[in-house]
Amino acid sequence: TEKSLVLVKPDGYRRGLSGEVLRRIEAKGYVPVALAVVTPTHEQLAEHYAEHEGKPFYEPLIEFMSSGPVTAIVIQGERCIEGFRALAGATDPTAALPGTIRGDLGRDWGLKVQQNIVHGSDSPESAAREIGIWFPNL
Ligand code: GTP
Ligand code: MG
Repeated sequence: TEKSLVLVKPDGYRRGLSGEVLRRIEAKGYVPVALAVVTPTHEQLAEHYAEHEGKPFYEPLIEFMSSGPVTAIVIQGERCIEGFRALAGATDPTAALPGTIRGDLGRDWGLKVQQNIVHGSDSPESAAREIGIWFPNL
């Protein structure tokens, strides 16, 4: 079955939302198969966000993502990549619908980067690539 890489970003971790995110993942029926708390290195983040290099939000994104611990989770289940992105909601937490993680728990803090609590892989290719970055031994 499909796997996806979920990150509870530094804003979510700092606010104590790792458990709430995990609760929603499990309530949906997806299974956590690996979980770790890590403070990302710039090298890890450059790999993870390679597709965004050169965009105006890239540098603030790397700074934000390296600002503290994240909870990294590999989840498993049929169509969990699409399913988790539905649970997460739209990238912009102001526009994300209520009922979603970002819609229920996120907001705009007036910063240079969207602090939107979670990351979820967006395709089977990126899931495989990202799981390799965060869980090299998996
Ligand atoms: P992730 O699951 O975190 O990858 O979010 P996403 O797939 O909804 O967004 P995307 O991969 O396009 O962008 C990665 C991250 O960069 C987002 O989650 C935001 O934190 C940030 N970001 C993306 N687009 C913008 C933008 O237009 N402005 C700002 N300020 N930040 C952005
Ligand atoms: Mg993305």
